[in-house]
Amino acid sequence: MSERPYVIDEMISAKAIAARIEELSNAIQEEFRDTNKLVVVGLLRGSFVFIADLVRELDLPVEVDFLEASSYGDSMESSREVRILKDLRGQIEGRDVLVVEDIVDTGHTLKHVVGLLESRDPARLRTIALLDKPLRRETDVAANWIGFSIPDEFVVGYGIDYAQRNRNLPFIGKVRFPEV
Ligand code: PRP
Repeated sequence: MSERPYVIDEMISAKAIAARIEELSNAIQEEFRDTNKLVVVGLLRGSFVFIADLVRELDLPVEVDFLEASSYGDSMESSREVRILKDLRGQIEGRDVLVVEDIVDTGHTLKHVVGLLESRDPARLRTIALLDKPLRRETDVAANWIGFSIPDEFVVGYGIDYAQRNRNLPFIGKVRFPEV
């Protein structure tokens, strides 16, 4: 089956993302200025571009780790089950941790991951998401820092995919399906 044709309109430029990351990194540095090492945890796969740019702006001692979660829709329960496909390599008990998400949509992924990591007794756990879609929220989770709050649009680029494509776009774009 061939993919329905679509176009991508730029929504947030690479320059705007870089400027926002600089602001966010200043806020994170302020929060963790006394840390002896910050464990920066990227949620795979969507956060890989954001975490790469973010850690390079952080003037702090950092360690990088990754976690992969996958969520499943459940129409009967109107809730989503989140499963951990790849866990952290390192221990976080007593450590300072920053969880990095590309986008918070329903919030099930972030809520589950925060609950899981909090159960491991980190010293401090904070969260950051590049994009937030508050209109889609189904949980009471909120990231400590947000890059951009956006409307309920289908977005791609800067790590975010559509059918595993477009993660390599340097900007955030909006997918549009032209009328035929
Ligand atoms: C996307 C995104 C977030 C999650 C947000 O991941 O990267 O992790 O969904 O959705 P939620 O707030 O509704 O839980 P996806 O499962 O598409 O995997 P990917 O990161 O590998 O693209």
